[in-house]
Amino acid sequence: MATIPTDRAPDSTLAFLRAGYRFVGQRCDRYGTDIFQTRLLLEPTICLRGRAATELFYDADRFMREGAMPARGQRTLTGRGGVQGLDGDAHHDRKAMFMSLMSPAAVRRLGQLFADEWQARLPAWELSGTVTLHTEVASMLTRAVCAWAGVPLSGGELDRRTADLQAMIDSAAAIGPRHWRGRLGRYRSEHWGADLVEQVRHGKLSPPEGTALRVIAEHRDGEGRRLPRRIAAVELLNVLRPTVAVARFVVFAALALHDHPAWRQRVRDDDAEAGQFVQEVRRYYPFFPVAAARVRRDFDWQGYHFPQGRRVLLDLYGTDHHPEVWPEPERFRPERFAGWPGDPFTLVPQGGGDHVAGHRCAGEWITIELMKRAVTLLTEVIRYDVPPQDLAVDLSRMPALPASGFVVTAVRRTG
Ligand code: HEM
Repeated sequence: MATIPTDRAPDSTLAFLRAGYRFVGQRCDRYGTDIFQTRLLLEPTICLRGRAATELFYDADRFMREGAMPARGQRTLTGRGGVQGLDGDAHHDRKAMFMSLMSPAAVRRLGQLFADEWQARLPAWELSGTVTLHTEVASMLTRAVCAWAGVPLSGGELDRRTADLQAMIDSAAAIGPRHWRGRLGRYRSEHWGADLVEQVRHGKLSPPEGTALRVIAEHRDGEGRRLPRRIAAVELLNVLRPTVAVARFVVFAALALHDHPAWRQRVRDDDAEAGQFVQEVRRYYPFFPVAAARVRRDFDWQGYHFPQGRRVLLDLYGTDHHPEVWPEPERFRPERFAGWPGDPFTLVPQGGGDHVAGHRCAGEWITIELMKRAVTLLTEVIRYDVPPQDLAVDLSRMPALPASGFVVTAVRRTG
């Protein structure tokens, strides 16, 4: 049995926070493998990247999710007791609840709500002179996803809720004040969500049939039990929070249009090219660096031993930038997706494998729909100037974003 190349540092947590998205890839390059072992949060951890590793990682007979997410991430990003940490039948049952919300018609409805929000804000943008796209899109997405999910939201609540949802996203890999803002955001949001669930269960609130709030409040597991209200709140936030996070991809799409202006015309003229553009934005720009699991029981793979209980990280960013999978991975080239047959184990910004059976992101179709809508709005509905600003994307900052949040000026309607 070969020995897994091992980082000699006693603990690499700080190195991980410093290197950010490149942590796994740099070490894989150093060792000339797609696998190495290190210690993170004082625990031995195997890191993997690449297509074969992704296929392995999404084999539910070999890996489980219980206990994989560090406590800090649960207190901020995901919450405790949600679908991300479930395995086997419990996971299948909970995941089916999420996937029931993702019919093509429902996905389109959310896209339309977002586009309507965008149109409604145009007069204010035209007047205001300067618009920070990330701030505005996050707020529009909060309104759109709440309306879609059957969640009432008063005008006065919008900023607080948007800020709390964003704080959870921003805090996942943070220490210090950013972490604490995430915890506070989660605390407040879980109370809000639990209260909404109670109102539905007591008939005080009646969200339309099939909306996320209604489905989650009324969901019963295989044994006919309702979700405890705190866990129902965690699952409601598992719909609201990541939808607001799509604002980051919208900003990256705007950045890509700015850096590659020829694509403004191409996405306008050709639907297929618009689709390729969105896929390349999801591949190229950094979002979640890694996904975490634990070895279910001992096994060997490619001559390496994986002991039961060992934490394993799959490098999502590194797989999306793997030179054996994506030629010239550091070039933004949407054409690479022309005629792409699709592969559940190579394009993994939102995880890999199967949406229904595994842990792949439940909201991938929503993400693509919202991004396509945003690209249309940015190229066909408005024109704008991009003034000098700091558009650098710091790969040691997780999650990443252009430093300025993408400021535009002189917004005007086309035509
Ligand atoms: C900003 C875009 C998004 C990104 C980058 C993203 C990324 C991810 C990633 C990396 C995972 C974990 C995969 C794994 O553990 O193997 C995940 C899981 C999940 N995502 Fe997303 N996501 C996004 C948008 C959404 C949206 C819009 C929704 C819902 C409306 C959503 C709901 C979920 C849920 C429920 C899970 C847990 C799935 C499970 O454990 O079975 N995500 N996402």
